[in-house]
Amino acid sequence: MEPPSTGGVHQSAAGNNSTHKFHPCDEAVIATNDDASDCKRCAVRLGYWKDDYIGYFVRNQERKAPEINRGYFARVKGVEMCVEKFLKKTSGNCQIINLGCGFDTLYFRLRDTAHQVKNFIELDFPTVTARKCYTIKRNKALLAKIHDEDGEVRLSPTDLHGPNYHLMGVDLRNLDEVDNKLQQAEVDYTLPTIFLAECVLVYIEAQNCRNLLKWIAQKFQAAVFVNYEQVNMNDRFGEVMLNNLRSRGCSLAGVESCLSLETQNQRFKDCGWSGARAWDMVQVYESISTAERQRIERLEMLDEGELLLQLFQHYCLVVAWLGLAFQDLDITVEELMSSLNID
Ligand SMILES: C[S@@+](CC[C@H](N)C(=O)[O-])C[C@H]1O[C@@H](n2cnc3c(N)ncnc32)[C@H](O)[C@@H]1O
Repeated sequence: MEPPSTGGVHQSAAGNNSTHKFHPCDEAVIATNDDASDCKRCAVRLGYWKDDYIGYFVRNQERKAPEINRGYFARVKGVEMCVEKFLKKTSGNCQIINLGCGFDTLYFRLRDTAHQVKNFIELDFPTVTARKCYTIKRNKALLAKIHDEDGEVRLSPTDLHGPNYHLMGVDLRNLDEVDNKLQQAEVDYTLPTIFLAECVLVYIEAQNCRNLLKWIAQKFQAAVFVNYEQVNMNDRFGEVMLNNLRSRGCSLAGVESCLSLETQNQRFKDCGWSGARAWDMVQVYESISTAERQRIERLEMLDEGELLLQLFQHYCLVVAWLGLAFQDLDITVEELMSSLNID
């Protein structure tokens, strides 16, 4: 055990008992987090939404095309709308589990709002969580969001545990290990839980993904699953996307559920979820308030309107629920709803 490097922070080599065996594509899948984080960083820097934390995780200042920035805006905003509705409905008496969290900063952004949750758990491959842990450990602004006055933060190379924040390295295909990690995070299977998976399930082999979704459905009593990823992948545009990813060593192992909004919904229903609804990103974008859309549309000229439309048609947001308490959670516009982080 090393001495604490910052007040209340304990480091340990233990806790990294992960037995992650690499599959041939895992490295390319892990690299998708860098792409996503770079894109989020770029859009934030241009003013699409406010995120005081992404800059700690990403130094890259590369500028992305306007349609990419708009795509990420719709993605982040769509997920946020679902999270905010869930938090309102549960009055914070809930937990958030972010699957394949990458460098996502939702936990830190939430800490700057009136929304509080009982527990926030993040899981990703140990290679990714090790980098996230390292960045958090080195930045007091991030650490300060994790430990309160008397709470302590425990750190191993890949895992970090605060009073109500847990970041852990695990392969989501290994359910024994997922269970073990969730227990280390003091998960409460009876508490309303929202699962987030932003471009994650598509990288997991279909059978493994089904096992994960079934396992969650059996373990948790009341839950919502928010899944953002590809859809309509059986047309020409989808084929080009697949080929591009394959040329970078990354097959979309779970693509069979990304053929249509129906296949997206059906996967959840087949895995024991009470129901599911899906929208393509054209619909999600249109559900964002007019004022907000007008604000971001003024940020950059869009030359490739057709390309943005095609991108929006090939991504979707799926909301699945367990039990009946959350079946009305959807993306309908609530003009009066405060935003988590967008001014
Ligand atoms: C495209 S990135 C998205 C990251 C984050 N959700 C976001 O939107 O910023 C996909 C993430 O899923 C993670 N992932 C994919 N398959 C996984 C698995 N079997 N176990 C753990 N993490 C996985 C990757 O390591 C990567 O961080």
